[in-house]
Amino acid sequence: MGVPTDYATYLRIDELLDLQQPLSDGAHDEMLFIVVHQVYELWFKLILHELDAAAVALDDARAHAALRPMHRAVAVEQLLIDQLHVLESMSPDGFMRFRDPLAPASGFQSTQFREIEALSGAGDARHLDAAGRDEIHRAQLSERLGGRTLYTALGMSMRAAGFDAPDGDHADARARRMSALASLYRDHDDAPRAVLHELCEAFVDHDETIARWRHHHALMAAREIGSRTGSGGSLGVAYLQSTLDRRFFPELWEVRNQL
Ligand code: HEM
Repeated sequence: MGVPTDYATYLRIDELLDLQQPLSDGAHDEMLFIVVHQVYELWFKLILHELDAAAVALDDARAHAALRPMHRAVAVEQLLIDQLHVLESMSPDGFMRFRDPLAPASGFQSTQFREIEALSGAGDARHLDAAGRDEIHRAQLSERLGGRTLYTALGMSMRAAGFDAPDGDHADARARRMSALASLYRDHDDAPRAVLHELCEAFVDHDETIARWRHHHALMAAREIGSRTGSGGSLGVAYLQSTLDRRFFPELWEVRNQL
């Protein structure tokens, strides 16, 4: 029999509720700012848990087992967009009351967000510098950057189902992959193809939801800081606007042109 537990013990509620430590006195909205960021990091943790499960299933050619974790990750990402509305209840002057002391802290330094990008195929080794102050975060991100991606795992499942979908950046590999994807998108009536097609669309959902988050986050930032530089030291909203066209799975957007 296990050790008896209760709600507060199991969920470590006391530790959890001790983690919100504002830096400024009397800045009412700082609690909101801290809670929202911490909740984001918890959801990032779950998203990584789900995307990892999807990648493992795809690597093992169990495409059907990747569907539920992909759908769950996307459902959480939708929540992340909705949470931006909560932050938008903060007026710019409310933010200015506590903003200066927290610099250079910025979501730009979120290792888990960079891990989600890396696992989705859009890793960027330059972000190791942002995580660089903390060796554990740096090692965590470094491992992701050298590891498999969701897209290469999808390729494993496609090949196991008989598609000619090789890995790699070479033009020939890319052309064969595009033709395999076009074939899948044109004909997905039988069960194995239907599962792979639904997965590709779940990948597009993931890509689109993060892209919508980028848009909304940039708008929210413009409401809060106008054209000031970011607390992380970037150009601010102008930098965020330069990220809006990033896509995780460009080939899944491109295949639309071949139908
Ligand atoms: C008042 C609220 C917020 C403002 C004004 C804001 C503003 C900014 C700005 C200006 C940047 C560019 C980097 C920099 O120089 O700092 C940035 C990046 C970023 N922020 Fe926020 N942010 C806010 C809230 C959040 C929240 C709640 C999250 C959730 C974790 C978040 C996640 C990110 C991420 C992941 C990036 C990097 C984006 C990229 O490089 O593609 N931000 N933010």
